[in-house]
Amino acid sequence: MELIQLFVKILCLISIIECRTSESFWGTGMKLVLDPNKICRKAGRLKSKQTGICEKEPEIIREITKGAKIARKECEYQFRNRQWNCTSTRRSMRKILLRDTRETGFVHAITAAGMTHSLAKACSQGTLLDCSCLMMSSPQSDNSLSQDFDFRGCGDNVDFGYKKSKEFLESRLKKGHDVQTLVLRHNYEAGRLAVKMNMKKACKCHGMSGSCTVQTCWLKLPHFREVGAILKDKFDGASKVIATNDGRSFTPEISSIKLPSSEDLVYSEESPNFCEADRSTGSLGTHGRECNITSKGVDGCDLLCCGRGARKEQINVNKTCNCRFNWCCEVTCNVCPQKMTIYSCK
Ligand SMILES: *[C@@H]1O[C@H](CO)[C@@H](O)[C@H](O)[C@H]1NC(C)=O
Ligand SMILES: *[C@@H]1O[C@H](CO)[C@@H](O)[C@H](O)[C@H]1NC(C)=O
Ligand SMILES: *[C@@H]1O[C@H](CO)[C@@H](O)[C@H](O)[C@H]1NC(C)=O
Repeated sequence: MELIQLFVKILCLISIIECRTSESFWGTGMKLVLDPNKICRKAGRLKSKQTGICEKEPEIIREITKGAKIARKECEYQFRNRQWNCTSTRRSMRKILLRDTRETGFVHAITAAGMTHSLAKACSQGTLLDCSCLMMSSPQSDNSLSQDFDFRGCGDNVDFGYKKSKEFLESRLKKGHDVQTLVLRHNYEAGRLAVKMNMKKACKCHGMSGSCTVQTCWLKLPHFREVGAILKDKFDGASKVIATNDGRSFTPEISSIKLPSSEDLVYSEESPNFCEADRSTGSLGTHGRECNITSKGVDGCDLLCCGRGARKEQINVNKTCNCRFNWCCEVTCNVCPQKMTIYSCK
């Protein structure tokens, strides 16, 4: 136990973990405490499988924390123009994670995706001891005698990321079959699959001066931005589910809807209203949020301000201007103060 605390302190010192409490919480819902300090302290008490991870594989915990961080950033980015903007302030996120809405589902999925991604990346970069990059050498050569396929692509080891992140998150789940646990497990899997199913093939040509007689290919991770966008689409198309009669699985609430695939997001509770602040739901309201006056979409003032209208404001910004090209070869610019008009929700 003391060893673990020492370890976490070290992580704090080299600032891998944000140790100020207000920021170290990505979520503090019962099912998701991503502050490794807490993860390990809790695990120590419970003598669970996680204790093993904490004690034996501290470097895995480091990647898991990194994964949770990129997930938080991506969630904020994907939802920056929406009524619910994935703000990770504790009083909001804690409430979001206690429920089982679309938003809850997205947060869980992107978190699992972030962990898968970080672990897979660390693996191929050689920063983890017990794994390495995935060799997927597939020389497509007409000349089987060619000696040119010595080079093997070092692919990102997504299988390792998938397996480890699953092990970690599953070890935290209740054994039960209540619909919330089933939904949680499903959305974690959807998150991991958003990484695994979107690996990109990269190839390199060998052979005489770019003739490409020998090709080596490998799989590389998608950019996490892409994973975020994929999951955001899944959020928009998420299906509401209810428990089946035997209580061991779930089924779409509207029976005419086809069964969600393992890559789709599901939820079992309607989202609260995010227009006005409400302590009980974690909604912060949209008063004061900047909106786009010309857009008819979710970022437009009509939708974002929930029909309350928007206020026109002049703000000062500094822009680069008067850029000149100097022979040779640099560009110099000035900074010009400018007034900009923005709209923010009443
Ligand atoms: C998200 O919304 C909250 C509440 O409206 C606001 O205080 C916060 O600044 C927003 N965050 C971003 C990144 O826009
Ligand atoms: C506002 O919305 C319009 C129309 O959708 C879009 O063309 C424009 O780029 C948006 N402006 C900003 C600042 O996002
Ligand atoms: C713009 O630049 C000036 C001078 O560098 C600075 O004093 C001012 O605070 C800046 N304004 C903004 C809005 O960043």
